[in-house]
Amino acid sequence: MNIVLTGFMGTGKSIVGEKLAQRLGMGYIDTDQIIEEREGCEISKIFKEKGEDYFRKIETEVVKEVSSFNNCVIATGGGVVLKEENIKALRRKGIIISLSANPRVILERTSKSKKRPLLLNCPDPYERIERMLNFRKPYYEKMDLKIDTSFLNPTEVVEKILKFLRKDGDN
Ligand code: S3P
Repeated sequence: MNIVLTGFMGTGKSIVGEKLAQRLGMGYIDTDQIIEEREGCEISKIFKEKGEDYFRKIETEVVKEVSSFNNCVIATGGGVVLKEENIKALRRKGIIISLSANPRVILERTSKSKKRPLLLNCPDPYERIERMLNFRKPYYEKMDLKIDTSFLNPTEVVEKILKFLRKDGDN
C-alpha cells in the first residue's frame, strides 16, 4: 500500500511527504524529482524548452511506474490530478490524500521559489493562482482525505494523516 499526496503547488506535499515517510518507516518518492533526474534538468527548463505537453507525458510515465511500488509515500506534482489515467494508476495501490491552502498562503509559500514555471512571469500571480485553483478544485476534491494546510505546520498535517490512517485501519 502507498500513500499518495496530491494538491496545488505550495500546499506542502513534499515536506509533509518526507516527514510522513519518516514517521511510518516508508520509502519517500517525489515524482517531480524523478522527472528532473530522468531529464537531467529542472522542471522550469523542461517547460521552457520542451513545453508543458512534453512534461505531462513524462509525468504520466513516471506516475505509472511509481504506482506499482510498495510501501511508499508518493508526493506528486500539482497537475497530476488533471489526467484520469494518473489517478487511476495511483489508486491501484494507494490511498490518495489531497492537501489544500488558500490562495494568499499559496502565493506566500511559492513566491520565493523560482521552481514553478506556471507561476513565473505572470503579471498577477495571485489572480493566476485563484484561476487555477478554481479550475482544479473538483479534481482535488475527489480524493480519500482532504486537509487544508493553510494554518497548520507540516507536523500537524502529518498528525492528521496518521489519525486518518489509524481510523481507516479500524474499518
Ligand atoms: C505543477 C506543479 C509542480 C510541477 C510543475 C507543474 C502544476 O509541482 O509538477 O511545475 O501543474 O501544478 P509542485 O506542486 O510540487 O510545485
